[in-house]
Amino acid sequence: MTPTHSPVQLSVQTRQDGKALPLPTPTPPSLTPPVTPTVKDRSAAEQSISSPIEAPAEAKVAQLARPTVWSPLRFPDDVEISRDAHDRPIEFGRGAWSIVYKARLKPCAPSSLAPCTPPSSPTAVGRVLAVKAPLRRDARPVLQAESLTLTRLNLTTGYERHVVPFHGYLAESEALVMSAIPLALSTYIEDTADLARKKQTTATMFNPIQGTDAWQDLARKLISGLGWLHDTAGIVHGDIKPHNILLRPSSSDSDSEDADTFPYDPLFADFSSALDLPMDGAPSPGDTTSRTAMSAFTPPFTAPELLSLASLTSGDVAPTPASDVFSLAATLLAAATGDLLLYPGSSNLQRLAMAREGQQIIEFARSGTNGCRVPRKGVVERIIQPAVCKDTTQRIAPPEWLVLAST
Ligand SMILES: Nc1ncnc2c1ncn2[C@@H]1O[C@H](COP(=O)(O)OP(=O)(O)O)[C@@H](O)[C@H]1O
Ligand SMILES: [Mg+2]
Repeated sequence: MTPTHSPVQLSVQTRQDGKALPLPTPTPPSLTPPVTPTVKDRSAAEQSISSPIEAPAEAKVAQLARPTVWSPLRFPDDVEISRDAHDRPIEFGRGAWSIVYKARLKPCAPSSLAPCTPPSSPTAVGRVLAVKAPLRRDARPVLQAESLTLTRLNLTTGYERHVVPFHGYLAESEALVMSAIPLALSTYIEDTADLARKKQTTATMFNPIQGTDAWQDLARKLISGLGWLHDTAGIVHGDIKPHNILLRPSSSDSDSEDADTFPYDPLFADFSSALDLPMDGAPSPGDTTSRTAMSAFTPPFTAPELLSLASLTSGDVAPTPASDVFSLAATLLAAATGDLLLYPGSSNLQRLAMAREGQQIIEFARSGTNGCRVPRKGVVERIIQPAVCKDTTQRIAPPEWLVLAST
C-alpha cells in the first residue's frame, strides 16, 4: 500500500534558519516497551486522558466554539506491532513523515506475577490498530502537532463520520494510535481503474471509473466532510489527496446494497499539514506556523496559488479553505479518471509547471488516456470546474458546492 505517488518536497523550508535538513534516516521506533506500566504510570496516563482540554463539556455542546486543547490525548496502554512470517513489522503505508504500522493492544504477559490490569483505553483487546510513527527526526514535532489536532477533532460533534478514529498519542515512541482503516482512496482508485479497463465498453467509457452515480455520491460525501472540517471543526486540512483519505465500508445497509451509491465512508486522515482557522482573531495554542513551513506538497493536488514562485521562495505558504477546495476537486478528478498522476506523463518539473496552472486541470486531464471520462458539459466537469478556478475569491465554498453536487 505504499503510495505510488509520493509527495515531492519542493523548496519549502524545513528549519527556521532556512537550511535544508540532512537526508532522512528512518528511525524504527521502539513501540513495545517490555514492561507493563506500573500503577503509578497507569494513573498518570489516565489523568492525562481525562484532562487534555480545559472545558470538554462546553466544547461538546457548543459546536462552533472550538475546544481548547493544550496537550494531546494520551494512549494509556501498550501496543504491539504485528509482524509477518519473516518477523518483519507489517506496514499499512508510508508518507512524507511517517510509517504506519499494523498493531494490536499488547496482551497481558501470562507469566506476569502481577494481577493483569485490564486495558484502560476503550479500544478492545485484539482490535487491529494503526500506529503512525515518525520516519525521521524532523517528523516528531509534526506528529506531535498532528496529535493535538486529532485530539481536538475527537471532541467535535460529527467527528466519527468524517475523520479517522484517533485513540491517543504514545509519548514514548512519539506515535499516534488510530483505528486501522486499511484502504486508502488512492488504492481504491488504482484497483477500480484496473477493473474498469478490463470491463470497458463504449457505453461506460465516458463515465467515471466507478460509474457516474457512485462518483457523485463520493463527491457529496467528501464535500460534506470538508464543509464540516472548515465550518464546524475550524480546521484547514492542508494536504488533501487520495493517499490521505481512507475508506471505511459504509455502515448504512442501503449503501452497500445499492450500486448507485459509493459503498464506503471516506474519512480524512493525515493532519500533518493542518492549520487552525482563526476564530475571533485569537491565535490558538499549538500555533501551526512551523508546521506550515514544514509541509510537503504533491503538485497535482496542491492549489496553484500555493505553488507560485513567490510563495515557495518566501517559505510563507499557508493552506486555506480555498486551497483545500482545489485539492479536493483534484482528488475527485483523479477518482473519475482513475489516473492518480492526473496529468499525462511528464517530468516532475513539467508537472510542477502544469500544477502552477492548476485552473486548467480539467483540460490537462482530458489530454490523458482517460480524458474521455470527463466529457465537456458532463457531470464531472460541472462539479469540478467551479472548485478549481484561479481566483480564490471566486472558488466555490463547500456549502454551495454540496448543493451543486447534490443536483
Ligand atoms: N488509520 C490507518 N489505517 C490504515 N492505514 C493508514 C492509516 N493511516 C494512514 N494509513 C496509511 O499510511 C499512509 C501514510 O499515512 P499518513 O498519515 O498519510 O502519513 P504522512 O503524514 O507521513 O503522509 C497513508 O497513505 C495510508 O496508506
Ligand atoms: Mg500522507
